[in-house]
Amino acid sequence: MKLDMVPQGVLEQILLRIVDVPLPLLHTAIASLLARTVMTGTKLGVFEALEAGPLSGADLARECRTHEGATKSLADALVCTGYLTLDGGRYGMTAMARRWMPRSRRDSMHDSILFSIDEHDYMSSMENYVRTGEALDIHDAGMNDERWSSYQRGMRSRQSGYAPEAAKRTPVAKGARRMLDIGGSHGLFSVEICKLHPGLNSVILDLPEAVKHAAPILAEDLAREGMEGRVVHEEGNALSDDLGTDAYDLVFMSQLAHHFDDSTNRDLAKKVAKALRPGGAYVIQESIRTETPSTRNQIGGMLDLYFAMLSESGTWAFEEMASWQREAGLTPWGPVRYRSTPGMGQQAGVKS
Ligand SMILES: C[S@@+](CC[C@H](N)C(=O)[O-])C[C@H]1O[C@@H](n2cnc3c(N)ncnc32)[C@H](O)[C@@H]1O
Repeated sequence: MKLDMVPQGVLEQILLRIVDVPLPLLHTAIASLLARTVMTGTKLGVFEALEAGPLSGADLARECRTHEGATKSLADALVCTGYLTLDGGRYGMTAMARRWMPRSRRDSMHDSILFSIDEHDYMSSMENYVRTGEALDIHDAGMNDERWSSYQRGMRSRQSGYAPEAAKRTPVAKGARRMLDIGGSHGLFSVEICKLHPGLNSVILDLPEAVKHAAPILAEDLAREGMEGRVVHEEGNALSDDLGTDAYDLVFMSQLAHHFDDSTNRDLAKKVAKALRPGGAYVIQESIRTETPSTRNQIGGMLDLYFAMLSESGTWAFEEMASWQREAGLTPWGPVRYRSTPGMGQQAGVKS
């Protein structure tokens, strides 16, 4: 799956083949404009305002406390991008927007989109990264409280679309009791996995700043599921802390390997292997990159650059993750690609 220009109708399909279309213009000016339009609608509460039903432009502006003419321009742009409908002078949400945008939904993209506004700032340092090779190192440098909170909420929102599938496809040994969720932040994966396995409890090991902002998010989810006490946070650092010996039946690590380089991931896999009980699994969940760059891997390939810019590492191929597990004495299983989020998957290695 990739983002690109999609011709509308047969005539445009033919034109696209014979006319010299300036694709770079669409990839830059128009793609940024699309992103900003959706971010602005999200930040100003357009989708929450329309939850109860369609509104005129004037009423939408009143609900959002925004300028009437400018709000109509925004709403019209959101109609053109497939987020809103316009019928009889009133704006409503399309089925897609209703599915993903209102923040009242448990798996809403609202917080992910707000986090994308911060990410636009981070991305402005891409040029400097390429010139100097110096990454931002976001976990160490200069995130204030507001940014940490947006990061933790954004992560939860971003993963919520595929968390149920991830939980179903995670190998959990019969009778498993203890799970370690490295860099587990908001804890959504721990909650979803423990929900499927009533005898299993999880410890989320994360940096102190993350725990401070993720704790209320986890508390909300645990209360909603009636799972209080089954998933807890522990402040620490997976790279410097001892993870124990024969202590866990499952060690899960989602979206963190891309912040660590190859040798760090190899060393971590060895610590994890020691911490696992026989029969336990180390599951690494990531945005997957193909071994060589290709247009068939647009998202994984671009994320590789993005994470390199954030922390001098990048996305990984299944075989690379399997090699860390093999070297740590674990038996890697075959790659698991998620159906609900193309480009995402997990690599499990089991301790015999
Ligand atoms: C990209 S987020 C992923 C969060 C969550 N696992 C998910 O998939 O949504 C990476 C998380 O790893 C945490 N982290 C970064 N370095 C860490 C370290 N050395 N030890 C433990 N956690 C770390 C961050 O604080 C953050 O919460």
